[in-house]
Amino acid sequence: MNPMNRQIRLAQRPVGLPGPQCWQQTEEAVAQPQEGGVLLQTLALSLDPAMRGWMNEGKSYIPPVGIGEVMRAGGIGRVIASRNEAFPVGSLVSGGPGVQDYCLVPAEMIKRSGLTRIDPRMGSVSQWLNVLGMPGMTGYFGLMDVGQPKAGETLVVSGAAGAVGQTVGQLAKIKGCRVVGIAGGAAKCEWVVKELGFDACIDYKSGTVKDGLKQHCPDGVDIYFDNVGGEILDTVLMRINRKARIIICGAISQYNNTSAVQGPKNYLSLLVNRARMEGIVVFDYAPRYGEAVAEMATYLKDGRMKSREDVVRGTVADFPATLLKLFNGENFGKLVLQLAD
Ligand SMILES: NC(=O)c1ccc[n+]([C@@H]2O[C@H](COP(=O)([O-])OP(=O)(O)OC[C@H]3O[C@@H](n4cnc5c(N)ncnc54)[C@H](OP(=O)(O)O)[C@@H]3O)[C@@H](O)[C@H]2O)c1
Repeated sequence: MNPMNRQIRLAQRPVGLPGPQCWQQTEEAVAQPQEGGVLLQTLALSLDPAMRGWMNEGKSYIPPVGIGEVMRAGGIGRVIASRNEAFPVGSLVSGGPGVQDYCLVPAEMIKRSGLTRIDPRMGSVSQWLNVLGMPGMTGYFGLMDVGQPKAGETLVVSGAAGAVGQTVGQLAKIKGCRVVGIAGGAAKCEWVVKELGFDACIDYKSGTVKDGLKQHCPDGVDIYFDNVGGEILDTVLMRINRKARIIICGAISQYNNTSAVQGPKNYLSLLVNRARMEGIVVFDYAPRYGEAVAEMATYLKDGRMKSREDVVRGTVADFPATLLKLFNGENFGKLVLQLAD
C-alpha cells in the first residue's frame, strides 16, 4: 500500500508575521514514479527567511508560491523509488521537496528542481543544508564574488550566528580579514568569537551598533555583508572606507513590515567613499556550487570551519511555528526541520 503524504500548503498570503491562518494541512496518497522520475522521502527541510518573501504576491527573483500550493522548501531526501539510473534507491539527494513527507519528481523536473546527489562522507545531512548547502553557497559566492576580500581588510557581517553569517565570517577569517560580527544576544556573540574565531561581535540587542563599530572597527569597514538591512545597514554605511563593498544578501528586519521597506538613509556614503553596494541571488551561482562545496568541505574536514545547525525534530505540522523562530531570533545556527532519520 502506498504511504500517505502529509503536506503544508499556503492557504492565504500573510500580512506581517505568517500566522497559522496562512497554512493548511492536507494528506494524499503517494504515487509511484514514471519513466525517468524518482520518489523521495523528505528527511530534513531547510527553513529559510526567503520563505517569507515567497509567500508574497508580486515580482521577485522567483515566482511566488501560489495559494493552495505545497509550500516551497529546500531539503534533503532519500530516494525510495526510482526509474532513473542516476538516482538509485537509497541515495541521498538535495533539492526542493517542499513541505511534505514525500516528493514525486518527474523526469522533466529533475534538472529544473536542481536535484543532486549528496555525499554523506563530506558532511552530515544538516551540514548539507548549511555550510555545504544553499546558505553556505550564498556566503561563499557573496563574499568571494561580490565582496572580493583581501587579507588585512575589515569585514563586518550581520546575522553573524545564523546560517549565512557563520559561513561568511569564517571564510573571511580564512582569507585573512579582520572579522566583526553583529548578532542578537550575548550567547550568539560569545559563540562566534570563542568557537568560530571572529575578532569581535557586537550585540545589537544590548548597546548600539554605532558604538560597537567605533570600538571594533577602528580602521573603518572595507566589506559589509548585510543579512538584515534596516537600521543596522544605515549605521554600518556611516563607517565604510573608500572603495568599500556592501553585499546586499538579505534584509530580514524588513520582511514582516506592514509598511514600506526602510531603505538606507545614509546611501550618500557610497558616493563619498566611491563605494559599491550589490545584491546577490545564490541561484545564479548554481553551475559553480561544486567548486564552493569542494573548498568548504576541506575546511570542515581540517577543522578550519565549524557549522552549527538548530535542528528541530518534528512533522510537517511543526513547520508553521518553527518558521517563526527565524524572525524572533530564536534559531541558533541554520534552522532545520527534521522529518525522518
Ligand atoms: N540573496 C540570497 O540568495 C540569499 C540566500 C540565503 C539567505 N539570504 C538572506 O540572508 C539572511 C540570513 O539568512 P539565514 O538563512 O542565514 O538566516 P539566519 O541568520 O540563520 O536566521 C535569521 C536570523 O536573523 C536575525 N534577525 C531576525 N530578525 C532580525 C531583525 N529584525 N534585525 C536583525 N536581525 C534579525 C536573527 O538573528 P539574531 O538573533 O542575531 O537577531 C535570526 O536568527 C536573510 O536575510 C536571508 O533572506 C539571501
